[in-house]
Formats: sequence, C-alpha cells, structure tokens
Amino acid sequence: MTIAELQQAILTLKKEKDVCILAHSYQAKEIIVIADFTGDSYALSVQAKKAPQATVLLCGVRFMAETVKILSPQKTVLLANPAAGCPMAEQMDKELIEGVKRRYPDYTVVAYINTTAELKTVCDVCVTSSSAVKIVKSVPEKNILFIPDCNLGDYVAKQLPEKNLKLLQGGCPIHARVSAEEVRQAKRRHPAAEVLAHPECRPEVLSLADFIGSTSAIVAHARASHNREFLIGTEISIAQHLAFDCPDKRFIPLSKDLICPNMKATSLADVYRAVAGSGGEEITLSDETIRLARRCLDRMIELG
Ligand code: 13P
Ligand code: SF4
Repeated sequence: MTIAELQQAILTLKKEKDVCILAHSYQAKEIIVIADFTGDSYALSVQAKKAPQATVLLCGVRFMAETVKILSPQKTVLLANPAAGCPMAEQMDKELIEGVKRRYPDYTVVAYINTTAELKTVCDVCVTSSSAVKIVKSVPEKNILFIPDCNLGDYVAKQLPEKNLKLLQGGCPIHARVSAEEVRQAKRRHPAAEVLAHPECRPEVLSLADFIGSTSAIVAHARASHNREFLIGTEISIAQHLAFDCPDKRFIPLSKDLICPNMKATSLADVYRAVAGSGGEEITLSDETIRLARRCLDRMIELG
C-alpha cells in the first residue's frame, strides 16, 4: 500500500467505527494530516473531553492516552503504539511524592501533565507547558512543589517571583540534551535567526532564546513572525511541520539530537491496526485512580 492508500483506509475505517484520532504535534506529518485534532498536551486534553466519538485513538505517548481516559472514562481509549512511553513521566512515582509531601505538608503539589495517572492521584493541580505560568499564578497558595520537570519549574519560578517553588531533579531527557554552547554555535552560524525554545530546555538554553513556549506557541509564533529564519528548540518534528506550513521560511533544529524516540515510535501502520482492532492497547484505569487523578486535571482545565 502507498502512504495515501493507507491513510484512506484509516479514514474509511475510523468513520465506520466512530473513532476520533488525536495526535500530538510531535507525531509524523503522515499521521497529523489524518487526525481529527492535533495540538499540544493542553489542547489535546481539552479536546479529549469534547470529542463526540465513542472511541478515541491517541497518537502520542502513554500519559496522554491516560489523560484522555481520566477525562472521558465512558469512552474506549486506545494508545496507537503501546511501547510509546514518556521517560519523564516515569521518573517519579506515587510513593516518592507521598514521601516528599510528608516532609513538606504545607506545599501544594503542581504536576506537569507528563506524569502517570497513578502519580496524578496524589497531586493537587496539573499544568501543561502552555498553561504552567498562568495556573501556578492563579493557585492561591504561595508554597508550590513542582514536579517532575525542574527546567519547566525553574522557568515558572522566574516568571512568578512572588511564589515559592520547590523543584525536584527530573525532566525531559531529549530537551535536556541541548547545551548553551550548541545554541551559541547555532546563533553564530545563523545570526539572523530567532531562537524559539520549549521550557523543557535547560535554563541556560532558555536564557539565550528569543521566545519560550509550548509546541503550539512555538508554531504560532513562527507562523506570525516576519523573520525568515528560526532555530527551533524542541522536538525535531516541529521544525519539519513548520517547513510545510511556511515553505518560504527556514526552520533549523537547535540540535540534531532533539529526536524523541517515543514520539517517533508510532507509525501509520500502528494507527491502521489500532483503528482496525488488531493493534494498539486499550487503556484501563481503576475507578479510584480515575476519580482521584481527575481532580487535578479538572482543576487545570478550570484554571487554564
Ligand atoms: P507540549 O505539547 O505541552 O508543548 O509538551 C511537549 C512534550 O514534550 C510532550 O511530551
Ligand atoms: Fe517525554 Fe520529552 Fe519525549 Fe515529550 S519529548 S514524550 S517529554 S521524553
């Protein structure tokens, strides 16, 4: 089958079976174009709640599919490739955070959405990269335990000096690969380029950026900018998608190492098999996990 034929087969099947396909912006272009909805983690979680279909197929990583299940427990939620996990989401477990909470009982626990459903059950509010500053600002408490990404946490802390953020050592191993020296070298090679970086990058990288934002914010900024050249400090697929969106502009990955193997794990054939019923994994969570984890996601949507 050609790519176009496989895409057509997926579109026909998904209509027959009433399946909504959600794809994170880091997915391959051939998946993005057949999805009902694409976006950053926040947009996907809001869309998950709104989707009218009985089945939602998530093309992304496991914590995203779990988020869909928590927000829509009555729906069948499928993860296109069961092997696609997020190393950051697996860095901290419930027991570890319960221990930290015992040491800091007067801290509100703010969890990046890149956490497991189980960990969310002991957190107070979730944030995404696009909503973190807004949400931390709007929670009434001053003392915040921000988990698991210390780079995003450091970025939020710098925007909100009135808050007292406690950070733990965690984060995205892919974004952490970019060094300040790589940024300086890239800027020397492309002096006219604007540097757009995701807040999962290290603080010294963010301090050299012209714009900091979530995947969707980076895309929106690059589309609207009058600049012609951009150094993209997030997963490589964003630079690739932007090249299709704005062929008259140039998008250069800030580092050639900005490739997330988990985000790249899902293929069009995985999507086909999941819609056809011969692949993917149905996400199941206990009623108790859904009930407890939902509180911090609902609070995120309410405040975000
Ligand atoms: P956003 O989609 O919130 O920008 O997050 C990027 C990411 O690393 C998702 O895994
Ligand atoms: Fe996780 Fe980083 Fe990959 Fe996103 S890019 S899925 S945060 S490892």
